[in-house]
Order: sequence, then C-alpha cells, then structure tokens
Amino acid sequence: MEIFLDTASVTEISHILRWGIIDGVTTNQKIFLNEKGVDFQDRVLEICKMLGNKPVSVESNGSTLEEILNDARFFVNIAPNVIPKIAMTADGMGLEAINILSKEGIKINVTVMMNLNQLMLATKAGATYVSLFYNRAKDAGENPLQTIREYADWVKENRYSAKLIAGSIRHPKDVEQIAAAGAHIITIPYKIISEMPYHKKTQETIEEFDKAWKEFTNK
Ligand code: E4P
Repeated sequence: MEIFLDTASVTEISHILRWGIIDGVTTNQKIFLNEKGVDFQDRVLEICKMLGNKPVSVESNGSTLEEILNDARFFVNIAPNVIPKIAMTADGMGLEAINILSKEGIKINVTVMMNLNQLMLATKAGATYVSLFYNRAKDAGENPLQTIREYADWVKENRYSAKLIAGSIRHPKDVEQIAAAGAHIITIPYKIISEMPYHKKTQETIEEFDKAWKEFTNK
C-alpha cells in the first residue's frame, strides 16, 4: 500500500518526507486555499521537485471539456510527475476528458467519487488513479469500506491496473480500516499523519524504560 500526503504546504511535505514514508502528494482547490497568496504554478513545480519522480496530483477547475483538457495538458508541462485530477461530473464530461487524455498518454487521477459505479466508470474511461472520498462517502450514507473491497476485487478480476486512492481522511483509525480493506493508496492530511506514530501505551512504555535505564546507570 502507498501513502500520499494530502497537502500543498512545502513545510508539511518537507517534514514528513524526512520520515521516508511518502509515495506521492495530492492537492485540490480547498487545499490550495490554505496556501492563498502563493503562485500556483511555482508551488506545483516546487512540490514536484521535492517529490522527485513521485506523483503529485493537481486538480483541474475547468467547467467545460475544453477547459479541462487545456488544464490537464498545461499541468503535465509544469513537471513530469504531475498527475492531473479530473472530477467525476454528473454529465459524463469528466469521463469524456479522461478518455481523450488517457489516449494521449496522460495519466489521470479521477476524483470526488463516492461509490463503486463511479470508480468503475472512471477505470473503464482510462483512469490511472481513482479517488474515493472516504468520509464524504460515509457522510452520504455510503459504505466506503465495502466499496474499497469490491473495487479491489473488481480490478483484479478484470485485470485493470488503476489504483484506488482513499481520501477524505479524518482520523488515524480511518487509515487502519482502509488499509485492511485493501485500498492501493491512502492520501492523508498532515494533521492526521502527524498523529499516527503516537500511542498512549507506547508513550508510557518508553517512559518506563527510560526510568529503568536511569536507575541502571545510576543517573
Ligand atoms: C484527495 O486528494 C481529496 O481531494 C481530499 O482527501 C478530500 O478531503 P476532504 O473530504 O477532507 O475535502
């Protein structure tokens, strides 16, 4: 399973990159709002350079097919590891864009999805990554853990190579459950990933061992 960081903050990326656990970065319009005032293209390029050859997802805000296509083609020229993100639009325009761009050899992350139908359509249209919004799907009454299990089986049975990214993470427990359900990738916000090394019992045990060592060495 791969771990992506769900942020456009170079400070946050720089910190967690030092842990050696990051396989990519995902961004979206709301994440960039946290970085208001930065130059979009400069920041995308800076993140891409920090990530080396690891994928960096950047979302199109296009509202027409032409705008989406232009965004994707522009994004991939910023850096070779940019993955354009395209939303699963209700009118199928997103699918049309994915179909066109995948035939041009552009890898696409299809995003803002809540159920298996959407994941399957995105995969068949040519998606490289399919993003399931875990907690937003739960908010909407879906069963995203079941969706993850069913999608993992479906891609295996049908020999697709698309990878499911579980996003919309709100708690470290989400990560455990999603990983156990078989998601290929989880994209985790900095606040949540920063909480993951901590466990109360671990902290207590480290302090107990530290105390014992001080006694042993008569400190
Ligand atoms: C993935 O990249 C998604 O854009 C992101 O995880 C969505 O998270 P949210 O539901 O907290 O906005």
